[in-house]
Amino acid sequence: MEAHSHATPPADGPTLGSLPVEPLLTAEFDVDPGAVYERLRSTYGPVAPVGLMGVPVWLVLGYTEVTEVLRNESLWRRDIRYWRARAEGRLPRDWPLLAGYEVRQMMFMDDDEHLGARRTHHSALSPFQDARSPEGWQLRAAVARYADELVGMLAAESGSVGFADLGAQYTRPLLLMVTTKLFGCPVELGDELVMDLWRMLDGGPDSGPATARALGAFTRLAAHRRARPGDDLTSYMLLADPGLSDEQLGRELFMNAVYLNDITGNMVLNTLLEVLRGNATVRRSLSAGQLGETVNRAALANPPVANMCFRFAARDVRLGEVWVRAGDAVSPSAAAAHHDLLAISSSHLVGSTVSTRAHLGWGAGPHQCPSAARELGGMIVATAVGRVLDHFARAELTLPPDQLPWRSGPVVRGLRLLPVRYELRAGVLPAQRRDPAEPSTAPTADGYARRLLTVLRRLMPGGKEEDRVLP
Ligand code: HEM
Repeated sequence: MEAHSHATPPADGPTLGSLPVEPLLTAEFDVDPGAVYERLRSTYGPVAPVGLMGVPVWLVLGYTEVTEVLRNESLWRRDIRYWRARAEGRLPRDWPLLAGYEVRQMMFMDDDEHLGARRTHHSALSPFQDARSPEGWQLRAAVARYADELVGMLAAESGSVGFADLGAQYTRPLLLMVTTKLFGCPVELGDELVMDLWRMLDGGPDSGPATARALGAFTRLAAHRRARPGDDLTSYMLLADPGLSDEQLGRELFMNAVYLNDITGNMVLNTLLEVLRGNATVRRSLSAGQLGETVNRAALANPPVANMCFRFAARDVRLGEVWVRAGDAVSPSAAAAHHDLLAISSSHLVGSTVSTRAHLGWGAGPHQCPSAARELGGMIVATAVGRVLDHFARAELTLPPDQLPWRSGPVVRGLRLLPVRYELRAGVLPAQRRDPAEPSTAPTADGYARRLLTVLRRLMPGGKEEDRVLP
């Protein structure tokens, strides 16, 4: 691959802007992204031009090409100032994905600036991923307790046998409770956070104002914790780099909140789905008691970061069968690349271990998910899935797997709902219903989760416009 990188593209060769592109985000892509990746691959090879909400980019589909882009940071840059279309003013000003890309935080930095920011994140996250440190075991205990309380609420609301949406009634509130605890958020920030992160990530028409509101909320959180430090990630980021301004810390927290809420939440749901739909290897790893392996297998089948954020070519380079020109945007697709891995692992020549070791669910190269964050994310997913398996005697999907509604954005693939018919094991205690007249003192997880549930239900598809909390 590198052998080509200093060669010159043919003068009359096609450029990204000159090629006809098919839009990626279609109804077909929502339902069956694998079929879209296969069609693109058979038309163009391992790198294909696609349209993302009207803007042409290269989608990298082949495993070899994806790992090349992720690992070679001198050629594939993250800083969006390398993006030629942006520098030349060719992006529509209201392009819905621009708001997220304009947030200058660690993901969109290169070289020493990036390394410095990564050190700060690592140092601030480490105490929480270490099960032997007080912060680590307190967080572990809190995740398990929140999960138990949410199952208890389910028992209180719907009984020990009933129907539930494990997205809205379990996973999403769980991740928000964990974020609130980890970030040291005053409770009021929670509702703002969930609504605006979803709007920004989905690239909706109001993604710009939603991003600005979420950044404002995290900047206020940074200022709050600077004045009143605690045992939380926000305060530890400031300890690790006291030179961080409130605005920059706000931007870093914003990006972490995306991973902690949306990506980790989708990993929980995708893992539960693989278990419920009876993925044979997932079930085997479960029955062998290897929950970590179960999570890896689910990441292979359905990585929540399906298509990673853009890299920009530092110079003209041949990738797959196309010439990518300096400043073109490329999106490495973990989901498409996993098709190659699944094909290899089903070969008679290679053992099944290939697949879990080589998956790109955490990314690869200098921008891969930091080790402390991976530990933390893995612990949260394993605990959340493990508590469901502990508490449910039986759970089955109420929709055929191919009819489940997916949120299929430019980056994330995650379930909108995970509807199940369930039976709880004996001994799951329903959460206590509080008398509404009783004044609430400290914000309990139960009370907080109930408020979140109300908000989340308003956000669900079909929720009434007049019920929405934000304009
Ligand atoms: C199961 C859950 C998680 C998954 C599947 C996941 C996946 C990923 C992936 C694929 C990337 C690389 C993206 C790219 O190269 O474009 C990444 C980066 C990152 N993740 Fe995670 N992540 C998870 C949990 C977390 C958590 C819990 C945190 C923090 C609390 C976190 C923080 C980060 C950060 C800060 C980066 C950017 C690293 C950089 O640019 O150098 N992640 N993650």
